[in-house]
Amino acid sequence: MRFDTIIQGGRLVAAAETIRADVGIRGEKIVAIGKGLASAQVSGAKIVDARGHYVIPAGVDVHVHLALPFCGTVSADDYDSGTRAAACGGISTVIDFAIPYGKETLQQAVDNWQGRADGRACVDYSFHLAITNWERQKGEVKKMVAQGIPTFKQFMIYESQGWQSDDAAMYGALETLRDLGGMLCVHAESSRVLNLLIERHHTPAEMKRHGAYLHAMTRPNFIEAEAIQRAIEWAKVTRGCLYVVHMSTGDGADLVKRAQEEGVHVLAETCPQYLALDDRLFAGKDGHLYATCPQIKKPRDQQRLWQGLKSGEVCAVSTDTCTFSRRQKAMWKGDFTKIPMGMPGLETMLPIVYTEGVLRRRLTVNQFVEKCCTAPAKVMGLFPRKGSLQVGADADIAIIHPTKKRQVDWRKMQTNCDWSPFQGRELAGFAAHTFCRGRQVVEDYRFVGRNGYGRFIPRANPGCL
Ligand code: URP
Ligand code: ZN
Ligand code: ZN
Repeated sequence: MRFDTIIQGGRLVAAAETIRADVGIRGEKIVAIGKGLASAQVSGAKIVDARGHYVIPAGVDVHVHLALPFCGTVSADDYDSGTRAAACGGISTVIDFAIPYGKETLQQAVDNWQGRADGRACVDYSFHLAITNWERQKGEVKKMVAQGIPTFKQFMIYESQGWQSDDAAMYGALETLRDLGGMLCVHAESSRVLNLLIERHHTPAEMKRHGAYLHAMTRPNFIEAEAIQRAIEWAKVTRGCLYVVHMSTGDGADLVKRAQEEGVHVLAETCPQYLALDDRLFAGKDGHLYATCPQIKKPRDQQRLWQGLKSGEVCAVSTDTCTFSRRQKAMWKGDFTKIPMGMPGLETMLPIVYTEGVLRRRLTVNQFVEKCCTAPAKVMGLFPRKGSLQVGADADIAIIHPTKKRQVDWRKMQTNCDWSPFQGRELAGFAAHTFCRGRQVVEDYRFVGRNGYGRFIPRANPGCL
């Protein structure tokens, strides 16, 4: 058999099992999995030595914002740095949110986002579409699904950005997407009460006293829980498919679990910042850097979210990458309502989940692969092309060492950010090698990909696990 590349001698980790085997790649695809592939080949393939390593399907990050105009600035990682960061983080596919601004149509939003990716993306990508005005945009939904974009997003907050959806819009979108085989993603926070709490604390005296910690104080757990509960109710009565993005609370996990037990079609993701950081950070000198939305919560929420990953109500981990540099974060000037909200995450997602999850025995290595690679691909309609090690799948592969640790240092990373939420941590699980559609994009921990290689990947049938 002819191969272009053989990944030799590694332990192949899938969501369901771990086996010792080689992987044969030809063109963009995995064409063989088995022992001794090098001796069976007819001509000189490149041999990648994976002895002593795990060979996993490359990560699928279903929640990124690259070059997003937001909070009075534009997020600092674009399709160049963001997808280089993804590759070095062992991620071969990212899904961004195309958002219509002003009176733009959904098609214009897709075209705008495609323009940002064209010629820059180093790994594969897809888009969700944000619905910012259901009445105006609902007529376009069917066409978008047919174009390979079957997942839509509504924000329950961000009125001032012009992004907020009300209950009727969520109800309508869930009904329509149910009939089209699509899925509604929601940012679940309770806007009216959140605004009230922000207004209450938005005084010079309070800001002097609490600084960036006010960001956490104005987003107690019930702000997320009430909104999740309401979105679940709409999913229940419409029988639509709901996906809760960036779930940050243990209360959210309880609600999702209960709804799933009742047969409601609801899924939820969480992010490394909610699994490995807690709100004591806001009291520190650089506390404002950690402002993200929803807010980083308490250690007990972390524990509950890990448990949710293990037992299943939390189906996936994504990054919600929305990078802002120190200079951008400094725009807050002591006013917690003016901090650009978001953080980098693409290079550290797999290492954080592996180190905090697998090495601390909260997850098995197979569950790590399930949550970061396979389940996100399934839920977003990319499986088995992405997120799987099987013959016929795209050769999207990451090779990681099971114990060797590297220190997180933003200076050595691809991100445009000049800080990292995990700076200084010693983490295992960085990609020694990453492949995207058969092309090596990381070799010996160094980026070797190229701009423009990454391709738009159409998706279908989201919502299945
Ligand atoms: O703070 C965040 N997460 N910024 C990006 C927008 C969002 O809500 O996901
Ligand atoms: Zn959000
Ligand atoms: Zn987001």
